[in-house]
Amino acid sequence: MRGIESISSPPSLGQNGHSVNETSPKENGVPQQQPTANSWNGTTVKAKDPYALMRDCNANSRLTAQHYLWKELLGFLVHPDIDTRAADLRVADVATGNGIWLHDFARGKPPSVDLHGFDISLDQVGPKPWLPANIHMHIWNIFEDVPDEFVGYFDIVHVRLITVVVKNNDPRPILANLHKLLRPGGYLQWDEVDTIGCSIKTVPGVSAQNLDTLFSQLKGHDTWKYELTQTMDANGYTGSRLYTYEYGLGTARFWSDVYVSTWKEFADNALKTPEASKQLERNAMMETLNGASIMVPKLVWVTRKL
Ligand SMILES: C[S@@+](CC[C@H](N)C(=O)[O-])C[C@H]1O[C@@H](n2cnc3c(N)ncnc32)[C@H](O)[C@@H]1O
Repeated sequence: MRGIESISSPPSLGQNGHSVNETSPKENGVPQQQPTANSWNGTTVKAKDPYALMRDCNANSRLTAQHYLWKELLGFLVHPDIDTRAADLRVADVATGNGIWLHDFARGKPPSVDLHGFDISLDQVGPKPWLPANIHMHIWNIFEDVPDEFVGYFDIVHVRLITVVVKNNDPRPILANLHKLLRPGGYLQWDEVDTIGCSIKTVPGVSAQNLDTLFSQLKGHDTWKYELTQTMDANGYTGSRLYTYEYGLGTARFWSDVYVSTWKEFADNALKTPEASKQLERNAMMETLNGASIMVPKLVWVTRKL
């Protein structure tokens, strides 16, 4: 077996291409490397991070798993209403997470297709030198000004799973910034979970009260989703359409585990009631084993910049 291969970096850079503070803090005697926000391979804008979920290996694995579940359910990455054949296509994936959607989209596309991921944190993205040459990652807070070089730049902007990012039940500040990224006639595709049309399904006779309570803590009251088509049309977009996708009981457990994992991140990061959360999780998992699942339809909006 070969040993671990390493690619050396200049001393001021971390292993993944980030620069790190020379005076890193130490925890239990282990130096804590602090990636800085201005060392990535793209534009950087001041980024603050009030994110309600996590960015550790479990969170990252969850994003990867759920990406493939999404893809299997939808049957596409980009909705068939949107033409992706141009050799010089420019695509942005905003709130890209670990970049799995962009990586998947890049496969089979010519290297001339120009792909950009944006996120408030790139902690979940692989090392810069290992990214496909046409994928560029940028630190950008969706609520801050769009970097000048990307105003009107993209043919397609994709965004998925930013329910926890929308503030005050109002998606308009986000729609406005995504609009700025698009060229006139460019497409926005926004993929979300239907946290109002969701339900708990059980086999007959099984109670799922704990699973229900657990999911209620996560799902919030996102009524903005039910007006998003009209909100888009009233805010510089045209021909906005909503498509809904539901899965059957055969895949319910796969999805349910993703949602319990998401809740665990939320409980750790936002609820901070470790004992009560642990008990709730134990009970909810017992109900799951007995035959209960969280069912969440998926929503995909396709719209165009006027
Ligand atoms: C649930 S993850 C979804 C990741 C990816 N879109 C996917 O579907 O696999 C939400 C992402 O939003 C990012 N995010 C949170 N707040 C943000 C903000 N203000 N601006 C940009 N990205 C943000 C998080 O860092 C995280 O990567």
